[in-house]
Amino acid sequence: MTPAETSVAETSMRETMREPPMRETSTEASTEAAVAEQALRPRRLRTLPGLRDLVRETSLAPSQLIYPLFAVPGRDVRTPVQSMPGVFQLSVEHLAEEAHQAAALGVRAVLLFGIPGSKDAAGSESHARDGIIPRAIAAVKDRSPDLVVITDVCLCEYTDHGHCGILNTGDPRPVAALPEGYVLNDETLEVLDLIALSHAEAGADVVAPSGMMDGMVGSIRRALDGGGYAHLPILSYAVKYASSFYGPFREAAQGAPKFGDRRSHQMDPANAREALKEAALDVQEGADLLMVKPALPYLDIVRQLRDRFPGHPLAAYNVSGEYAMLKAACANGWLEEKRAVLEVLTSIRRAGADLVITYHAKEAARWLK
Ligand code: PBG
Repeated sequence: MTPAETSVAETSMRETMREPPMRETSTEASTEAAVAEQALRPRRLRTLPGLRDLVRETSLAPSQLIYPLFAVPGRDVRTPVQSMPGVFQLSVEHLAEEAHQAAALGVRAVLLFGIPGSKDAAGSESHARDGIIPRAIAAVKDRSPDLVVITDVCLCEYTDHGHCGILNTGDPRPVAALPEGYVLNDETLEVLDLIALSHAEAGADVVAPSGMMDGMVGSIRRALDGGGYAHLPILSYAVKYASSFYGPFREAAQGAPKFGDRRSHQMDPANAREALKEAALDVQEGADLLMVKPALPYLDIVRQLRDRFPGHPLAAYNVSGEYAMLKAACANGWLEEKRAVLEVLTSIRRAGADLVITYHAKEAARWLK
């Protein structure tokens, strides 16, 4: 293009992006618009597969995916999760094999959830030295020493009431001013510290607190630093919504609350500015990586965090309900699976996530090979 053409094109581009061209302007303007219309043919860049590859703005690679896995006690256990076709509760030797297969396809990290042999009100199994997560970490590391092992740090799978912390309960209640069954913040932080330390001792590479307690990142950071784990990064579930899309996970992890819900700590789906506040606090408290969860209904939040916190890698969690929806539609033949899955994962990346935590990780990695 000559400089004159460029400026016509740029002017017209600016106009087009602002508003549609007005037909009833001067003759000069409409001639200019007609010229510009012919000059601007975005389809030129879509004619050849090679050209489309050259101008693709967003990449999707197995190394950007994190594979969540569910560990259960016992040997040779492989229990399918009904609402999540392709997902299983696995005893640690099967879990290690599954992680190894994902690693062989280029996935670099797994996120471990544990289902304990026994539960109590305080979730004591959550930080047991020989608990399910320490055993799962050992099995994965033994089979795949280079795989990054991230562990979920929360109480909901370990408490008999299914809540993410220590409850305000008893007679009299520990904090009279707070309602019966309220998740007590600072009492819970003490347990989260123990969980993080137990995972660190067992060889976790990253800990991921998901309970949405105030101050959890700072508290865990201090505990890790004090325990000799100043080098261990924290992936914070900085922005976690009180979402209906966790339903299938709660079957998989057996962590559904026995009463009430999680709205006193997880965020209201209607809020966006509050997400920036949550993320800013976690950054201040020392989070190394940030996460938004769920992913698809919150892509605007992913984009805002990406823009606001350029110095922090950002993950988005493509949660169980998002997986279940897609699998159900594909099982019915309503969507073409490979294309739909890769489109979803690419969209989450395009919105600004560096990393996508997804149950599709292994199959997507195979398709991306
Ligand atoms: C809590 C936790 C949950 C998920 C990840 N960590 C459930 C919850 O908050 O109720 C949900 C993940 C998913 O739906 O895939 N430990």
